[in-house]
Amino acid sequence: MQKKVYWIEGDGIGPEIWKAARPVIEAALAAENAGIRLEWEELLAGDKAVRETGSPLPESTMQALRGADLAMKGPLGTPVGTGIRSLNVALRQSLDLYACIRPVRYFEGLETPVKHPRRVDMVIFRENTEDVYAGVEFAAGTPEARRLAAFLREELGASVIGDAAAIGIKPMTEAGSKRLVRRALRFALEQKRKSLTLVHKGNIMKFTEGAFRQWGYDVAAQEFGAETCTEKEPVPGRLVIKDRIADAMFQEALLRPEQYDVLATPNLNGDYISDALAAQVGGLGLAPGVNMSDTLAFYEATHGTAPAIAGKDKANPGSVILCGALLLEHLGVPGGARRIRKAVEEAIAGKAVTEDLATQVSGARVVGCAEFGEIIGSRL
Ligand code: NAI
Repeated sequence: MQKKVYWIEGDGIGPEIWKAARPVIEAALAAENAGIRLEWEELLAGDKAVRETGSPLPESTMQALRGADLAMKGPLGTPVGTGIRSLNVALRQSLDLYACIRPVRYFEGLETPVKHPRRVDMVIFRENTEDVYAGVEFAAGTPEARRLAAFLREELGASVIGDAAAIGIKPMTEAGSKRLVRRALRFALEQKRKSLTLVHKGNIMKFTEGAFRQWGYDVAAQEFGAETCTEKEPVPGRLVIKDRIADAMFQEALLRPEQYDVLATPNLNGDYISDALAAQVGGLGLAPGVNMSDTLAFYEATHGTAPAIAGKDKANPGSVILCGALLLEHLGVPGGARRIRKAVEEAIAGKAVTEDLATQVSGARVVGCAEFGEIIGSRL
């Protein structure tokens, strides 16, 4: 069977991490003899697309992605505060990639900021299209912001909003929240995970984050009632649904990580907690991620373009390599995924690692991006 995977090289370190990662993914798949062949087709986005077409996100790229079921991307640069909107956010919204899924686990051999990193084994499902990331923002002092502030004060009684305010809007819907939690529930049940935690800030933002919590419990009870239970009324053998306020969840992640398994979160909370958890296990440079719609699985390196080391053969290709493990799992080749994770672990144990990881591996020898990819490949 042939599976088409569209790929976007990405900006900054994108080209070099791709070059190192793709052979590893191919080799892991080949080693499994699963009868699947990947057909890679490049799509343009970011700097390369601007150079070749004048647009950072050409229509031809969007058209191909709309009909795709598998895609992968390197990091894309986003100017802060000015200029074009984030390409990543534009891709997520226009392709309706509503679930951002990030597994976080420890790789043996990495020094981490916590004493018991092995206790962390979580999968975060972050809602990806709503919340303050919807992109509805008005800069302070603009006619739009003043008009909106006046409307909120005069029509809706929001007297705290003065004319000088910059305003961002936080839309969250029942349908948007439920489809994310539903996906997390299906995953947790399929993988026989123990619990699903709804992470929210509903004590303060009652009608957005508080509603997310309630909609989460509702979808569990209404659609998975026979297979789930609540923390207050546990039933042996069933998936436990619980909730935590976001700030408390950060404490819990440090103090009692073993009590958490699958997390379902609104957009902003999920953004924060995914990076915090990845850092906790020393794996920020190794964290893979996938954004999913109902039809497309779009894998992405979770780090940025690392402009300071771009083109210097210093980047760590681990995130894209581990995206490959997620891709193989999705294709029903879990053996290939296990091979990749084991090879990464063995490479770390061998202590020849990229510069970023070398600070976390005692007695490490620093190797370049290409060599690190080759070492991982050789362990497959
Ligand atoms: P960054 O992730 O690019 O860099 C943060 C630090 O981590 C830097 O010290 C960098 O050298 C290092 N680093 C990152 N990835 C690495 C790798 N694979 N190997 C070794 N070291 C690595 O984050 P920053 O500097 O905030 O963002 C740079 C650009 O990337 C911005 O334009 C930002 O918008 C974009 N970005 C894109 C993302 C995406 O496409 N998913 C995600 C995050 C940022």
